[in-house]
Amino acid sequence: MCGIIGYTGPRVARDVVVAGLRRMEYRGYDSAGVAVVADGAISYRKKAGKIANLVADLEANPLPDSGLGIGHTRWATHGGPTDENAHPHISAGDRVALIHNGIIENFAILRAELEAEGVVFHSETDTEAAAQLLGRVVSAGTDLADAMRMVCNRLEGAFTLVAVDASEPHRLVAARRNSPLVVGVGDGENFVASDVSAFIEFTRFAIELGQDQVVDVTADSIIVTDFAGNPAETHPFEVTWDLSAAEKSGYDWFMRKEIYEQPRAVADTLLGRFNPDGSLKLDELHIPESELRLVDKIVIVACGTAYYAGLVAKYAIEHWTRIACEVEIASEFRYRDPIITRSTLVVTLSQSGETADTLMAIRHAREQHAKVIAICNTNGATIPRESDAVIYTHAGPEIGVASTKGFLTQVAACYLLGLYLAQVRGTMYDDEIHAVMAELASTPPLIQKVLDELDPIKELAKRFIDQKSVLFLGRHVGYPVALEGALKLKEIAYLHAEGFPAGELKHGPIALVEEGIPIFIIVPPQGRDQLHDKVVSNIQEVRARGALTIVLAEEGDHEVDPYADVLFRLPKVSTLLQPLVATVPLQMFACELATLKGYDVDQPRNLAKSVTVE
Ligand code: F6R
Repeated sequence: MCGIIGYTGPRVARDVVVAGLRRMEYRGYDSAGVAVVADGAISYRKKAGKIANLVADLEANPLPDSGLGIGHTRWATHGGPTDENAHPHISAGDRVALIHNGIIENFAILRAELEAEGVVFHSETDTEAAAQLLGRVVSAGTDLADAMRMVCNRLEGAFTLVAVDASEPHRLVAARRNSPLVVGVGDGENFVASDVSAFIEFTRFAIELGQDQVVDVTADSIIVTDFAGNPAETHPFEVTWDLSAAEKSGYDWFMRKEIYEQPRAVADTLLGRFNPDGSLKLDELHIPESELRLVDKIVIVACGTAYYAGLVAKYAIEHWTRIACEVEIASEFRYRDPIITRSTLVVTLSQSGETADTLMAIRHAREQHAKVIAICNTNGATIPRESDAVIYTHAGPEIGVASTKGFLTQVAACYLLGLYLAQVRGTMYDDEIHAVMAELASTPPLIQKVLDELDPIKELAKRFIDQKSVLFLGRHVGYPVALEGALKLKEIAYLHAEGFPAGELKHGPIALVEEGIPIFIIVPPQGRDQLHDKVVSNIQEVRARGALTIVLAEEGDHEVDPYADVLFRLPKVSTLLQPLVATVPLQMFACELATLKGYDVDQPRNLAKSVTVE
């Protein structure tokens, strides 16, 4: 996610801000910018690419010395990584400068309103709508903090905002909803930032802002209110982490941090996907509905974890759209002369958007005149650029090499696509689509619940430090979850692990079952055909042969109790949504085991985050 810093105090704000941006580089970004207030005016510089580009620009065209400044590293969501789309965004008449982290869901409506009033926009971002709106309210004579509260009350979605006003050289105002914001409390100087790493070199005293709060900051005062202007409670704390831990918000690994970010990441994937009439919209999907109605086959192409997300998606897409859906490993795709026609829809899943195997597959598909939709987490990456359309997952940068939030958000984005196709083609009634969307939207707190109850899985890992092999079983969408659980163990704990469809056991793999071998079994929710009961039988089969059964089953499912040596409860969700909760304990098990074995969880041996060679 974007990095944000603001400073007010006696130092040269430009330098404090650039130093803060550098310390947030670890978050990943694709452009950066800084604005200062001096002599009654806002001055700013912003550049696509690395902070070095911004610094070179600042050296060539220095900003004035000033005690008030804001800075931003952007991870593109709405609009590609360009100079114009970089933050800060400046309102008409250069009155306010604003930086933003998050997604403003209703930006299109606000933008249309402002454009109708004659405001000229200079970027494709959702942020600029907030900047222009704030500038308009402030220019009409409203105090900056009051204006910020008014703007926040009009915004929908997730945001951290920080703004400065050209006429107030010592004051910045920030706000947050569903996106982090901390205030760094200095001696005669204060900071705001998206995380403490941005100001840790200057102060270790911080205040964490709560949901829907606005903070009004000068060098000597910090006033926190809610969006209605009432005084609000805050959470002061002292930072005890070193810089490396601060970058990871106190976690030992980026992977663990990213596992814990999943409720927010899934919520962000789902943000802004509705029209005012309640129908589903996919803004980035520039393929006419008429063409989507002609699609007679879907082929999902991806690698590794993304491939497993595709395997999950197949079940939902076929069920909702009645279009045949194949899922193919990208590196195999073009070598088998796949049957692709103009009416084939190829969907690629890629967190990085740079995976060479996937890129080659889409090039091949487009040569055969198929339409290609990319589901991607990286705005402006090669795969979305070379596709006909893209759905961004908005998960924020994934830094740990092992993909975690990438998987969950790819599944969520595929579900959006499946429901959208069902809407366009009329294969589901509107109320059915709304019901699934409502359930999808209710998953982030359930994922959080799983995260809150992970202690037993961490304990469990301690029992398997010397284990040589672990098996995973699942059926239906639980099967790709089993594959993903096994992949996580292989790649970070260097442990032999295999995932199988539970029904396939008796056709061979059951020969692997020996006394004491741990087998994770993902049990489908009860009440779905005979699926649940079949898996319960599979648990008995392996247990009878000496396996140690580690069972993931939904709350209230007591049929599994007699056969589970270890039992983890999952929140109740429908079958198709179960991967969103069931994958999380498996990710954590791998992370914990690799940590206990002393391995580098974020940089496992032989692996790279972005695989740009075939
Ligand atoms: C596994 C993992 C890899 C990637 C795969 C595709 O944890 O990270 O299997 O999922 O290399 O990468 P993207 O999604 O960037 O195309």
